[in-house]
Amino acid sequence: MIKGRVRLSSAKVTAFAPANIALCKYWGKRNTELNLPVTSSLSISMGRLGTETTLSLNENRDVFYLNGVQTDQDSVFSKRTTEYLDLFRPDNSFFSVDTKNNIPTAAGLASSASGFAALAGVLNRLFKMELDKKELSVLARLGSGSACRSVYDGFVEWHAGARDDGMDSYAESLKAAWPELRIGIMTVSEKQKPKGSREAMAQTVKTSFFYRNWPDRVIHDLTAIKEAINGRNFELLGETSESNALAMHAAMIESSPAIFYWLPETIRIFHRVWELRQKLVPVYFTIDAGPNVKLLFLQGIENRIIKEFPDLQIVKPFESENV
Ligand code: DP6
Repeated sequence: MIKGRVRLSSAKVTAFAPANIALCKYWGKRNTELNLPVTSSLSISMGRLGTETTLSLNENRDVFYLNGVQTDQDSVFSKRTTEYLDLFRPDNSFFSVDTKNNIPTAAGLASSASGFAALAGVLNRLFKMELDKKELSVLARLGSGSACRSVYDGFVEWHAGARDDGMDSYAESLKAAWPELRIGIMTVSEKQKPKGSREAMAQTVKTSFFYRNWPDRVIHDLTAIKEAINGRNFELLGETSESNALAMHAAMIESSPAIFYWLPETIRIFHRVWELRQKLVPVYFTIDAGPNVKLLFLQGIENRIIKEFPDLQIVKPFESENV
C-alpha cells in the first residue's frame, strides 16, 4: 500500500517534528505489529524541542547518523529505523538518514516519537506522497505509537480506533491554544533506561491486575483533561495529568517482575512539587517511562518555579520562540 504511492526522487529533504508529552498516557497495545493502542491518549507537543531528520537515497547500503555520529548497524536505533524504512523502500535502494535530537535520546523524553514523526515527514517529501496530516499520523504510528501525536503542534488527541487494519487509529489536533502553559523538564538521568517502554508496556498488559482498570481510567481522564483545556481550568488539568501518570506507573510497579523507573531524585522532585502545592503554588508533574520529571505550571509563577528548580528547562508550547 505504501510502496504503491512512492515516486523516486534524488533530492535531500529535511523535516522537523516536536517531541510530545502525554497528559493522558498511551500504555498498552491491542496490536503490537501496527502499534494499535488499547486506549486513546492526549498529549502536548514540545515546540522546538524534537527531532530534525535529513533523508536522501544512498548507494549500496543504508547509513544512519544520530546526533552527528554514525550508528552501528546492530544498534536498536539502526534496527528500528531499517525496519521502518523497509515499509517504503523501492527495490534495490538504500537511504542515508541524519537524525538530530535536541532532547536526550531514550531518557523518557519521547525522542522516538519525534524521531518517527520526522522520518515519516521526510519520506513523505522524498517520495512526493503528498499525504495529509491524518495519513502522516498513521504512518508515524507504525514506527512508534506516540509518534502519531508528534505530527502536530499544541494539544493532540490520538483516537484509539477499532479497526484491525488501524486506519482509524490516528491523531488529531485539538485546535485549542493555552499560551500561558509551561512545561518544565527536570532531567534526572540521561542514561539508557533499564527496560524499553515497548517491552514494559507488553509486560504490564500481560501481568498487571491493576492494568484491567486502565481503560476506564483513561475514559475518565480524557474527559477531564478536555474539559480542563476548554475551560482553562489549570488545577483540573494538572491534577488529572499527574494522577494519570501515577496510575500508569502503579500498573507497571504492580506487574511482574515489577517495573520501577523512578530514581531517588525522581521521588524527591515529587515531594517538592507536593510541598509547593501545600503552600498553594499551583505546580503539577507528569512522568513517562523513565526517571525524568516534567512539571506543569502557568507563566504567572515561572519565576517562583525557576527559584525552586534552577536547572529546569522551560518549554513554552504555544509560543513561536518557545524554548
Ligand atoms: C510512557 O510510543 O515509545 O511515553 O509504540 O512501542 O514505540 P511504542 O511505544 P512509545 O510509548 C510511549 C509511552 C509513554 C506514554 C505516552 O507517550 O503516551
